Amino acid sequence: MIMVTGASGQLASLTLQELAARRVPALGGTRIPAQGQRRVDFDDPGSLDLTNVSTLVLVSAGYAEDDQVIARHRAVLDAARRDGVGHIVYTSVTTAGDHLGFALAHRATEQMIKAIGLDWTILRNGLYAELFGALLPWSTEGLESAFGDGALSAVARNDLAAAAAVVASKPEAHVGKTYDLVGEPITAAEVADELGVAHRTLRLAEYRAQLLADDTLLPFQPPLLASIATNVRHGFLKNSGPDLVSLLDRPIANALTVAADAAAAMRPAAR
Ligand SMILES: NC(=O)c1ccc[n+]([C@@H]2O[C@H](COP(=O)([O-])OP(=O)(O)OC[C@H]3O[C@@H](n4cnc5c(N)ncnc54)[C@H](OP(=O)(O)O)[C@@H]3O)[C@@H](O)[C@H]2O)c1
Repeated sequence: MIMVTGASGQLASLTLQELAARRVPALGGTRIPAQGQRRVDFDDPGSLDLTNVSTLVLVSAGYAEDDQVIARHRAVLDAARRDGVGHIVYTSVTTAGDHLGFALAHRATEQMIKAIGLDWTILRNGLYAELFGALLPWSTEGLESAFGDGALSAVARNDLAAAAAVVASKPEAHVGKTYDLVGEPITAAEVADELGVAHRTLRLAEYRAQLLADDTLLPFQPPLLASIATNVRHGFLKNSGPDLVSLLDRPIANALTVAADAAAAMRPAAR
């Protein structure tokens, strides 16, 4: 049986849908299980029952400081070894993302996976096109961001879910493989053009000040978001590669359209 963790999250739920569309049976693991799902909370090792799971799609459980994320992933990997899981498919971050604030926890998890002696496949996911669009705040004149002219090889979440489903459906074909799953580079100005508005570039200091003034953010988030901005702005995330196209059995989504739709959904009048 395939288990996909984080089943109530966006990537995991899309992965489960992709598996269902391929008529591949799979089980969702989640902190708040719906009927037919299993309770899996990486912060509660007692909940980690992975019996009868042959392939575990381990969707990273980010949104915390590195030590907590790594401890979560350590706990689920220990349970995988104990309960006889055969193959781990891990959703990591793109190879070019090494300088991102959240890359360390991903690379540490990759190392742990390679050390436990199970079969594995690493999916080094690019940043979501949906995220890029959502990180372009609206001003009265249009969009503004600290991305400057930098391009991001953004990927639609759904394409990453489809890639995870392809790998999990036939894991033996992907043992020991690391796939870099990125799309076509897009810029903030192109998203603005698509929406027929202007884009204004913020200095990184202005952006960081805005982040630090936002009391809805958790303490680890301002540096993490600033790291995305400086990586995109300085061209570190415009990597390309054939892996996504080769894995998918359909064309990849247009990242610019996906990002523009996400930005449009954030437009004050549209909220
Ligand atoms: N590539 C990118 O651009 C990008 C952007 C943002 C995040 N990410 C990473 O990719 C992951 C999936 O993205 P997403 O869009 O699906 O995010 P999402 O919709 O916010 O989902 C967050 C996921 O984290 C899981 N999670 C949190 N704490 C957990 C815990 N203690 N134990 C088990 N699972 C836990 C949730 O599982 P349940 O609620 O079902 O338990 C859920 O699947 C994120 O968690 C993050 O690590 C990637």
